[in-house]
Amino acid sequence: MTKIVITGASGQYGRMATDRLIAKGLGEDLILITRTPSKLEDRKRQGCDVRYGDFDKPETLVEAVRGADKMLLISGTRVGARIPQHKAAVDAAAAAGVSHIIYTSFVNVEESNPAIVAIDHRETETLIKASGCAWTFLRDAHYADAMILNAGPGFIASGVWLSSTKGGREAMVWREDCVDCAVAVLTQEGHENKAYPVTGPNRENFEDVAAMLSEACGKKIKLVETDDDGMYAHFDALGIPREPVDDQSVAGIPWNSDDMVSFERAIREGALDICTDDVEKLTGRKARSVRDLIEANKEFLRQVAIDTSA
Ligand SMILES: NC(=O)c1ccc[n+]([C@@H]2O[C@H](COP(=O)([O-])OP(=O)(O)OC[C@H]3O[C@@H](n4cnc5c(N)ncnc54)[C@H](OP(=O)(O)O)[C@@H]3O)[C@@H](O)[C@H]2O)c1
Repeated sequence: MTKIVITGASGQYGRMATDRLIAKGLGEDLILITRTPSKLEDRKRQGCDVRYGDFDKPETLVEAVRGADKMLLISGTRVGARIPQHKAAVDAAAAAGVSHIIYTSFVNVEESNPAIVAIDHRETETLIKASGCAWTFLRDAHYADAMILNAGPGFIASGVWLSSTKGGREAMVWREDCVDCAVAVLTQEGHENKAYPVTGPNRENFEDVAAMLSEACGKKIKLVETDDDGMYAHFDALGIPREPVDDQSVAGIPWNSDDMVSFERAIREGALDICTDDVEKLTGRKARSVRDLIEANKEFLRQVAIDTSA
């Protein structure tokens, strides 16, 4: 039996991946890593092997990954501090004889991409390639749900979507589609030493998305263009820290503005203007669109508009 170890197993991505692998009858082949095993009691009952491991304590990871054949390395959440964390996981995998590391990377990891998230992903890819393990890089585009369901309610409430993207485009992808691709790579043959840009089906700018959101929620959302300083001032006023802080969230979202301002710049400069059919190639079905996500959450978005219009 092939044993699969998953880091970040208690997070949104990790939970979805675990659910799908359990549904395929692989629950007893899963090793799930968390800093707080009590969070994954449900998984123990489903037959998974839940183990303690902390990216910040490399010594915990060798034991945590022991016996695994494949690793789904779900990138950590502390943007800018992930290289040593991921190095610890990759070193542990190599030491434990893991043969294949599947890593959740970012749609464009080239140096020309100004998004600061690209740095951690680029360096991590380099570390994985140097580890001696086979690799697959799932280069995920911007998650549509992060934009529509996390940031969207704020746009609906204020009627304003402030942006510095100046018409730049990206092909946002459903996080669930990204997870389905990971499951495909974990359970199929032939994905070793390949990188897949995992994107949605359409290249859209924020004007397009604001129009779709307005139509769905029944309230006009105006896209207002600003520059990087304007974005920083906006995020500062919301109390969002410039640098990432572990376990700190504003309005339930672990924002940090250095990340988001550079992300907007990347869109503006065309660095995220990438669209592939890799979701279909990997899963056998078409990627779902931003419009599909908005439609699927129309009632929620309408309710936000009603609640914030009073
Ligand atoms: N492309 C995009 O637009 C986009 C958007 C959002 C996220 N992402 C990527 O997707 C990844 C997963 O997102 P998510 O929503 O699933 O995150 P999440 O729900 O916040 O979960 C984060 C996970 O990371 C684990 N973790 C955090 N610090 C750790 C540490 N020191 N050692 C070990 N594990 C640690 C946590 O495990 P425990 O607390 O159980 O230890 C938790 O399971 C993110 O890191 C990011 O790279 C991409």
